[in-house]
Order: sequence, then C-alpha cells, then structure tokens
Amino acid sequence: MTEAVAFPQSRTCPYHPPTAYDPLREERPLSRVTLWDGRSVWLVSGHSAGRALLSDPRLSTDSTRPDFPLTTERASAVRRRRRAALLGWDDPEHNVQRRMLIPSFTLKRAERLRPRIQETVDRLLDAMEAAGPPAELVSAFALPVPSIVICDLLGVPYEDHDFFEEQSARLLRGPTVEDTEDALARLEGYLGDLIERKRRKPGEGVLDDLVARQPEDGGPDREELVQLATILLTAGHETTANMISLGTYTLLRHPERLAELQADPGLVPAAVEELLRFLSIADGLLRVAREDVEIDGTTIRAGEGVVFSTSVINRDAAAYADPDTLDWSRSARHHLAFGFGIHQCLGQNLARAEMEIALGTLLRRLPGLRLAVPTEEILFKPGDTIQGMLELPVTW
Ligand code: HEM
Repeated sequence: MTEAVAFPQSRTCPYHPPTAYDPLREERPLSRVTLWDGRSVWLVSGHSAGRALLSDPRLSTDSTRPDFPLTTERASAVRRRRRAALLGWDDPEHNVQRRMLIPSFTLKRAERLRPRIQETVDRLLDAMEAAGPPAELVSAFALPVPSIVICDLLGVPYEDHDFFEEQSARLLRGPTVEDTEDALARLEGYLGDLIERKRRKPGEGVLDDLVARQPEDGGPDREELVQLATILLTAGHETTANMISLGTYTLLRHPERLAELQADPGLVPAAVEELLRFLSIADGLLRVAREDVEIDGTTIRAGEGVVFSTSVINRDAAAYADPDTLDWSRSARHHLAFGFGIHQCLGQNLARAEMEIALGTLLRRLPGLRLAVPTEEILFKPGDTIQGMLELPVTW
C-alpha cells in the first residue's frame, strides 16, 4: 500500500476527480486516507464494494457518535452535537422520517411539477435574454431554478431566498466554526418561525402537510419538523444548482458532446445521467462501522470510519468502459452520484426533472452559448466534498 492520501482535496479540473486521488484508483476497492484531524479511515473507491457497503445496515450515519468521520473542523463542530434529519439517522428512526416524505418526492409528483419547472426556466431565460448578453449563469439561472422550485414545493416564500441561500452557503463553506454554527442557528430560527406561521395559517406546501400531521398520528414534533425543513431546503437547491452550472461548463468544454445534444434533444435525459456520473458533485459520503464488516477479503473493524468518494467510484473501469470519457450512449443509470441504499437521495426524481428541463431549454434557446471569459478566470467552489461553481460568465 502507498502512503495514505489526505481526504478531501480540491479538484485540479472541475469535472475530474482530484489528481491527488490517482493512487486510490490504483488500489480499488478500498484504501486508507487521512482526514483533517489526522484520523485514518477507509476510503471506498470500487463500484461494487460501494453499493454493497452503502446498503449494509452495519454502517451507521449517526454523526453524533464520537468515532464518526467528519471531513472538516466546521462540519465536525456542528454535526457532533446535532445530526441532520434523515441523513444523520439509522433505521428504524430514519425510516419513520423518510416515510413521512416519500409521497411528496415520487416520480409521479416530479412529473406533475414539470410544467411549473418549465415555466420557471422560461421566465428566467426571458429575463437573461432581455438583459444580456453577457450573463452570469449561476445567479441568473443555475441557482434560481432549483431555489424557486423547492420553495414552491415546500411552501417557503421565495422572497426570502437571499437569506436562506446565504445561510446555506455559509453552512457549507463558512470561514469558521462560529460562522457555520451561526448560519445553522439563523436558518433553523427562520424555519421555526415559518412553521409557526403555517400552524396559524396553513398553505399548500410539503411543510404545510407536515404541520397538519399531529405527532400522535405519526407526524413530526416541532423540533423534528424544523430539522426536516432545514435539510429539504438546503439539499434541495445547492446541489442541483451545482449540477446545472458545472454541467453547463462541462458541455461548453466538450463541444462535440454539446453538438450531439443540440442535434438530438432526445438525448438530454441520458446526458443528465452521464453528467451525474461524470461530475459526482457530492464527492464524500460518510459512515462509521457499528460492527466488523468483511468486504473483498478486508475487515472493516467496528468503530472505523468509512468514506465513499463517488467521483472515484463512478470512474471504476469494472463498471464503466472508458470511464474518463463523457459518452451519452452508455448506460450510466447505476452510478452512485445520488448515493445508494436507505439514504439514496430523496430528491433525485425532482433533481432529474430540473436538470433535464434547465439544460435542455438552455441549449435550445441559446444555441450560441459560450464562455464569456478565459477558463482561468472562472471561479469554482473551493475544495471540500460538494463541487460546484461560484460564477459562470457566459455570452451567446
Ligand atoms: C443533482 C442534485 C443532487 C445530488 C447530486 C444529490 C446527492 C445526494 C446524495 C449523494 C445523497 C446521499 C448521501 C449519503 O448517503 O450520505 C443525498 C441524500 C439526500 N438528498 Fe439529495 N442530491 C441532489 C438533489 C436533491 C434535491 C433536489 C433534494 C430535495 C429535497 C434532495 C434531498 C436529499 C435528502 C433529503 C437526502 C437524505 C436522504 C436520506 O437520508 O434518507 N437532494 N443526495
């Protein structure tokens, strides 16, 4: 085995796994990496081992366990004290929370939202065309699309978007522990107030439906409701925004693939799936072993941390031929970009609908879309495990 690689690290190219992870690709399916606090944990890099371990109930997502691996000091300060709803719980508690939300996130519900998503996308592109070229695509399009859609679905007033987008960004990238804690407290305070208002005057969103269900009938109590609202609002806009911005950038850097999509828009759903695999923007899923687990002849001991690099897993040549190539004709659907097992992304149907409509309409309406500045001037989100762009200046 080579010397342990530090995890996570910044990408050298925004759509490829960091070159510093190359030794992990050599050592599939498991190797050792070192976290920010010097702790050594298992890194899962193989596709088949990834699926097996992500669906293994002996691995826990309880971030309040002292042996749970966390990838930054900031995340550690917040998540050691309090775990996120859904993602921080194992079954049976996790299952109780997830069952409350499943009806709001089915494929059928996402399909019914398509006309509203299309309207939102068209309206934003009308405004962008009226004001430009050029335009800054993250603030004009990639962020507002999922932000408006999740507000609509949850029943959160979009007028407050500057506030919650800022808190979510601080939560993910705030400069200090105090700043991260402050962002979480503000977000929870805001959602707590909103929930109180909904109790007095119910509306039509998913949060209103949850407020209407009493804890005696299997509904959430107040604290649980605030926690659920927090994860739905934060997970619901930032990730999809990253996929739209980084997806657009990747297409602009692959003109042949872009031309294929423009010639045949029917390829867009396959392209979204392949971009999910290729970009793997949620690149670091975290678990701790509750018991000894044997996998491919290696034993993960109880109490050891396990980290999944989705970008490396999704480039496993045993699962995908020529994995570093962007190819719309491959079947990418079994990628782990949305995770796997009981915590597999609750919002994946919604995210797919948003990405298909956003990218498909953008390419159709602005066929001459191109970067407005040299690539060296583009600002990507720094390091860490969630990849995306801070700004994407485009022209057409
Ligand atoms: C392209 C965009 C998205 C990506 C790449 C993404 C990725 C992921 C991943 C990898 C996980 C699993 C984490 C783990 O196992 O540790 C996850 C879970 C989750 N995602 Fe997403 N997500 C996206 C969009 C959304 C949207 C739009 C929502 C809407 C509410 C959402 C809500 C959630 C929730 C609630 C969980 C936790 C599920 C559970 O623990 O049962 N995500 N997501």
